[in-house]
Amino acid sequence: MNGWPEHALAAASHPDPYPYYRALAEDGWRRDAKLGLWLAASRRAVGAVLGSPVCRVRPAREPVPAGIAGSPLGEVFGRWLRMSEGDAHARLRTAVGEGLAALPCNEAEQTARRLAWAFLTAGAVDGRRLDSLVDFLPVATLASLLGWQEAALAEAAAGIARVCRALAADADAVARERGAEACGTLLADLAALPAEGGLRRWRAEFAGLDAAVLCANLLGILFQSRDAGAGLLSAGIAWRCLGEWNHADPGEWRARLRQDPVLHHTRRFVEADATLAGQTLRAGDQVLVLLAAAAHDPAAPGEAMDFGRGRHACPGEAQALAIARGALDALEESRPDWRALGGGIVFQGPPNVRMRRFGAGERA
Ligand code: HEM
Repeated sequence: MNGWPEHALAAASHPDPYPYYRALAEDGWRRDAKLGLWLAASRRAVGAVLGSPVCRVRPAREPVPAGIAGSPLGEVFGRWLRMSEGDAHARLRTAVGEGLAALPCNEAEQTARRLAWAFLTAGAVDGRRLDSLVDFLPVATLASLLGWQEAALAEAAAGIARVCRALAADADAVARERGAEACGTLLADLAALPAEGGLRRWRAEFAGLDAAVLCANLLGILFQSRDAGAGLLSAGIAWRCLGEWNHADPGEWRARLRQDPVLHHTRRFVEADATLAGQTLRAGDQVLVLLAAAAHDPAAPGEAMDFGRGRHACPGEAQALAIARGALDALEESRPDWRALGGGIVFQGPPNVRMRRFGAGERA
C-alpha cells in the first residue's frame, strides 16, 4: 500500500489513486473501521447500493445535519431534491428535471462562453485567475440563466461558496453562520428575480409546490453545480494543458472521465439490515460509494460513473458539460500559455472531488 492514498476520503486528491481503486474494486467491498465506513468499490457493489431503497441519502434520524438543524440553512437543506427520498423525492425530481431540461444547452454554453471571456479579458490569465474562473463560472452561468443581473453574479457565486463551506464535514460554527447568512441573501435575491425570463418555466414546473420549495431547490441546483462543476472544468483545462483535445465531443469527455474521474464518491445511510452484492449491511451503517473505483473495476464494462446512477443520478449532466465547453472555447480564444498554466497543478478540494488548482504555487 506504500504510496497509496491514506484512506478512501483522501483518494480524490492523490496524484494517482487508480491502482488503489482497482484493488478495492477487485475486493468489491471493504470495511474501514477507522473511518467507520463500508467502502462499496466494485461496479456491482456500487450499482446495488445506488439501486437499493434501504440505502438513503440521509440517516433516518438526522434528515438535516445537527449543526444546521433549525436554522434557515437547515430548512433549505431539508427541502433539497438531493436530500429527499420517497414520494417527495419523486415529485421534486420531476420538477427539477423538467426545469433543467428546459434550459437549452446551447444557451448555457454561450452564456458560459460570454461570462468566461469577460472574466478572462479583465486581466492576465495566470493560475490564480484560472482557479477563480472555475470557482465562479458554473454557478454564475446558472444564476445568469435564472435572471441574476451580470453585476451580481460574483456575489451570488461567493454566497454559494459560503453555503458549501458551511455544509462541509469540518465546518465550524463561524463557517455555518456565514453560510446561513449567505443562504438568507441568496433566497432574498431569488425572490426578487423577475418572474418572466429564466424563472417562468421553473415556476410552471413547480406549480402546486410551495414557493419556498422552488426557491430552496433553485439554490440547490446552484449548490450542486459549484464544486462538481469547478472540478469538471478544472479537469478539462488540465487536459488541455497537456495537449489539444476535442472538448466539443461528449464521447471524449466520457472516455477521459472514465480514466480520470472528477466526482469520486458519494454516501449512503443504511436504513434496514440488507445484503447487497454479497455483503451484509446493518441498519445504521454508512457506505462510501466509490464511483471512481467502479469506473476502474476490471470486471465492469468500463463506463464513466461521474454523474452517478439510479434514482439520484445527476439531472444536470448536459448543462454541466455545456458550461465546461463554453469556458474551454473562451479560454482557447484567449490564447493562454497552456504549458505554463499546467506547470504547477496540485489536487486540492473537497474530499469527493478531484479538483485541480493551477495557482497554488503563485500563492506561496
Ligand atoms: C450544471 C451543473 C449541475 C447541476 C445543476 C447538478 C444538479 C444535481 C442535482 C439537483 C442532483 C440531485 C439529484 C437527486 O438527488 O435526485 C445531482 C446529483 C448528482 N450530481 Fe450533479 N449537478 C451539476 C453538475 C455535476 C457535475 C459536474 C458532476 C460530476 C462531475 C455531478 C455529479 C453528480 C452526482 C454523482 C450526483 C448523484 C449524487 C448521489 O447519488 O449521491 N453533477 N446533481
